[in-house]
Amino acid sequence: MGYDARFRVWRGDIDGGDLQDYTVAVNEGEVVLDIIHRLQATQTPDLAVRWNCKAGKCGSCSAEVNGRPRLLCMTRMSTFAPDEVITVTPMRTFPVVKDLVTDVSFNYEKAREIPSFAPPELAPGEYRMKQVDVERSQEFRKCIECFLCQNTCHVVRDHEENKQEFAGPRYLMRIAELEMHPLDTADRRELAQENAGLGYCNITKCCTEVCPEHIKITDNALIPLKERVVDRKYDPIVWLGNKLFRR
Ligand code: SF4
Ligand code: F3S
Ligand code: FES
Repeated sequence: MGYDARFRVWRGDIDGGDLQDYTVAVNEGEVVLDIIHRLQATQTPDLAVRWNCKAGKCGSCSAEVNGRPRLLCMTRMSTFAPDEVITVTPMRTFPVVKDLVTDVSFNYEKAREIPSFAPPELAPGEYRMKQVDVERSQEFRKCIECFLCQNTCHVVRDHEENKQEFAGPRYLMRIAELEMHPLDTADRRELAQENAGLGYCNITKCCTEVCPEHIKITDNALIPLKERVVDRKYDPIVWLGNKLFRR
């Protein structure tokens, strides 16, 4: 059954803004993005929101609902009480462009810093992997690049100063994917530790909690990557090599 919901939506741009109150009609089965679209259609034609698929697959509609990082198109109105005030704000970690739209280019910069897959020279038909290795990559490749994990991680959420040194869970996961790939010839452990700030991650798992694809970012990517970096650090041959050649 339909009802009128009370919405508070952040309106503004890079110079500042404020929460504004609206009362909007809600129909059965709708999601928060439907209500934002109804607001645009009936009261605020200039309200900016980024979206594309409305099916939880493009990763465009990321924002925060009542302070929780969410995909607007996958957040059902039925999860809120009809008399609850629903607050919708842009992702906090990235600079606002307008209203609910943020500039997520930080993520693309971090992506570009990771050298791509480096396979060995193989003849056609020799490119073989075990199924377990295929499945590991497949889990990570479910990522829709919504950047909710990047937005949530406390290392950068309120610490602009850490953005230079820290690639964030999504890109540490990408490094882990390549590092654990049996056919990748590059050693990415130094990249992970020195350039992508793996040491900043203290495995709070907040990234995993918000991932709409339910990827076990911390357990399956970040912790195994940390283990590999530690192995390298305490490998006696690596240690001796560092002593001899890095003085
Ligand atoms: Fe989004 Fe999950 Fe990918 Fe992070 S890992 S960008 S939360 S889909
Ligand atoms: Fe951040 Fe996830 Fe590590 S939230 S601290 S990257 S476990
Ligand atoms: Fe594509 Fe929400 S609109 S994930």
